[in-house]
Amino acid sequence: MEELHELCEKVSAIKQEIKAELEKLESSKGVYEYKKSVLDNKTGKIGSLMKQMGKVPKEMKADYGKKVNELKVWAQEHFDELDAKFKAEELKRRYESEKIDVTMPAKKHVHGNLHPVTQVTNQLIDIFASMGFEIYEGSEIETDYYNFTALNTPQDHPARDMQDTFYLSPEFLLRTQTSAGQIHVMEAKKPPIKIISPGKVFRSDDDATHSPMFTQMEGLVVDKGITLGDLKGMLDEIVQKIFGEGTTTRLRPSYFPFTEPSVEVDVSCFQCGGCGCNLCKGTGWIEVLGAGVVNNKVLEGCGIDTEEYSGFAFGVGLERIAMLKYGFNNIKLLFESDLRVLNQIED
Ligand code: DAH
Repeated sequence: MEELHELCEKVSAIKQEIKAELEKLESSKGVYEYKKSVLDNKTGKIGSLMKQMGKVPKEMKADYGKKVNELKVWAQEHFDELDAKFKAEELKRRYESEKIDVTMPAKKHVHGNLHPVTQVTNQLIDIFASMGFEIYEGSEIETDYYNFTALNTPQDHPARDMQDTFYLSPEFLLRTQTSAGQIHVMEAKKPPIKIISPGKVFRSDDDATHSPMFTQMEGLVVDKGITLGDLKGMLDEIVQKIFGEGTTTRLRPSYFPFTEPSVEVDVSCFQCGGCGCNLCKGTGWIEVLGAGVVNNKVLEGCGIDTEEYSGFAFGVGLERIAMLKYGFNNIKLLFESDLRVLNQIED
C-alpha cells in the first residue's frame, strides 16, 4: 500500500504537470482536448487518481479525496479561464478577418434589359389597359379565312398583293397581320368590345425598314355610336404618352379592305416639333399606323348588327415605333441581338 504522502506527492506532481501543459496551450481547441485528457472520469489523469482510492487506508480516505477534489476544481477553473481567453481572442481574429469596408465602391453588376420592342409593347399595353382595353392573344398560324377573307379580302382581291404571304398550305398561313384577331374576338364576344392584340406577324419582305417577321399591335373598339372622332381622340392621348407632351396626330385618307373610311395616321415630329428635320424628312409629320372605321361587311360577317353598332380599328408596327422612339435607322438592329446596341435602350 502506498503511503498517503506518496499519493499526495503524486497529486502535486500531476498539478505541476498540468500547470506546465497549460502554459503551452494556444487555442480553445487545444484547451478542450487537453481538458479531456485530464478531467475525463474514465481516462483522465485526475480520474485515475480517484481510482487509487481503494488503496488508501480508511481513515485517510477523506483527506485524500479532498486533495484530489481540490485539484479537480483547480484544474476546471484554469481550463475555463483559458478557454474564455482563447475564445475571445479567436472571435476577435475572426471579426478582423471578416470585416467589411462599407465605404468601398460596390462591384458593378451587369443587368439585362428588356428588348426595345418588348419595352414598347409593354408601354402600349399599360397605356391601353389604363383606358380599359383587354388583351387578346391570337395565334401565329391562321387560316386564309381569318387572315384575309373575313377581313373583306377574298381570294381574288387585289389587296392581297399588299401583303406577301407565307402559305403553309392552301388553307393555312403565317398570319400577315394581327387584324385576324379582330374576327376571332367579334365571333366570340358581343359588343361592347375594346381589345388590343399584340403579336408577331410574317411577310415575305426584307429591307432596311422591313423584316420577314415583325410585331404588330391591333386595336378594336366596337360599341354604339363609335366614329372616326373617337379614334382620333384616343390616338391624340396615346401619342403624347409615347412620344411626349404636345405630340398630335393627323389622319390622311388611305385604303384597307376591312375599314371604310380608312386612314393613315401621322404623328407630329417629336424631334423637331413639326419644323422639319431628318427624322420627318422635312415634313414635320411621321407616319405611324393604319386605322379606320370597321367596314360594315366585316361586322356583319361576324354577326354584329350594323344598325346598332359601329367600330374603329387600328394596326401599328411596333418595330417602327421602337425605331422612331430610340433612333434606329435599320430594322435589322432590332433582330441581331447586338448587346452594344441593346444595352443603350432602357426606358
Ligand atoms: N393590318 C394592317 C397592316 O398590317 C394595319 C391595319 C390598318 C390594321 C387598318 C387595322 C386597320 O386594324 O384598321 O398593314
